Amino acid sequence: MTSIPHDTPGEPDPLRALDLERLRRRTSMKWRTYPEDVLPLWVAEMDVPLAETVVRALTDALALGDTGYPAGTAYAEALAAFAAKRWNWHGIAPERTAIVPDVMLGVVEMIKLVTGAGDPVIVNPPVYPPFFQFITHMDRRVVEAPLGAGLRLDLGILEETFREATAHGGRAAYLLCSPHNPTGTVHTAEELTAVAGLAERYGVRVVVDEIHAPLVAPGVTFVPYLSVPGAERGLSLMSASKGWNLAGLKAALALAGTAAAADLARMPEEVSHGPSHLGIIAHTAALSEGIGWLDALLAGLQDNRRLLDSLLAEHLPGIRVHPAEATFLAWLDCRALGLGDDPAEVFLGRGRVALSSGLPFGTGGAGHARLNLATTPEILTEAVRRMATALT
Ligand SMILES: Cc1ncc(COP(=O)(O)O)c(C=O)c1O
Repeated sequence: MTSIPHDTPGEPDPLRALDLERLRRRTSMKWRTYPEDVLPLWVAEMDVPLAETVVRALTDALALGDTGYPAGTAYAEALAAFAAKRWNWHGIAPERTAIVPDVMLGVVEMIKLVTGAGDPVIVNPPVYPPFFQFITHMDRRVVEAPLGAGLRLDLGILEETFREATAHGGRAAYLLCSPHNPTGTVHTAEELTAVAGLAERYGVRVVVDEIHAPLVAPGVTFVPYLSVPGAERGLSLMSASKGWNLAGLKAALALAGTAAAADLARMPEEVSHGPSHLGIIAHTAALSEGIGWLDALLAGLQDNRRLLDSLLAEHLPGIRVHPAEATFLAWLDCRALGLGDDPAEVFLGRGRVALSSGLPFGTGGAGHARLNLATTPEILTEAVRRMATALT
């Protein structure tokens, strides 16, 4: 029998606060895309209540009628203080930041600042599928530099790709996902320093999506890209959206390295009209007062990673799960099950459990599926039971 781990000390584990009946009342994408008999463990929403501090900040704003346009640098200051405490990084200067509507629209704006139509944007598949969609939609060209051994960055492949992308003298950008979605890989200071060195050598501009940065497992160190030597020309996107489940409260921050401030300053003023004032209030409250809640979540996620490992060992030993150091996602290698390129389709059709198909993640996605661990231990247990029955 697989045992369900117990509550962690301190704040209560937010992954144990809600039940299925309550979750099914939600109207967001996770809960309304599939019929009621499907257990949804796909899109990156978490089955948690909001942190009290976020609820309070929003409730106060609503009570005041404080629902106008955003002003000031409170979000950037909260992130700077969080980064100093959490990552011992003191490099966030509010004057080198800009509010953007969300991380993906921020990525688009940053790439527009440093490339032109038709230019290559390098990504590391398997990677978050909207990277492909947004880059293509903005008339840039996706160039793949797949992850290598152990699902880590392959610096040899990256260098080769940088060399080819810039061979004819054009501009190129590298969209790095750090920590990496879907594998949960946390890039080391050495890897990131090597990336910065290669980017400088070939004149490639690095844009880093660090949305999952608050979500590293206990004992693992996240290294902000802009903190490594040589990354001064880098651009980064950060947000409280994944860490505190605030995707519906739109806001994110674009950060410029010390030598990229002039680039960020070229970002059109109208981009700052996109984020919502309530979103900024929520993100600011999360970063400044939601650390206890985050720690309880991280402990719960670690319990769920262990629970998933033991459930798979017991019921689906053919699946290999990549040991994630961050995110609330599990990247499942299902190739040994013989379910073809899209095992998620089989788990949905026969097991009534929705995972994300590996195929849209690009090279390396076939035969894989991504499971969202940010749910209750009971739902996770039921999901794996259903996946196992799909094979019988
Ligand atoms: C790597 C990554 N980037 C961006 C996003 C989306 O962020 P936003 O809603 O702020 O655009 C997600 C959502 O899951 C993600 O995993």
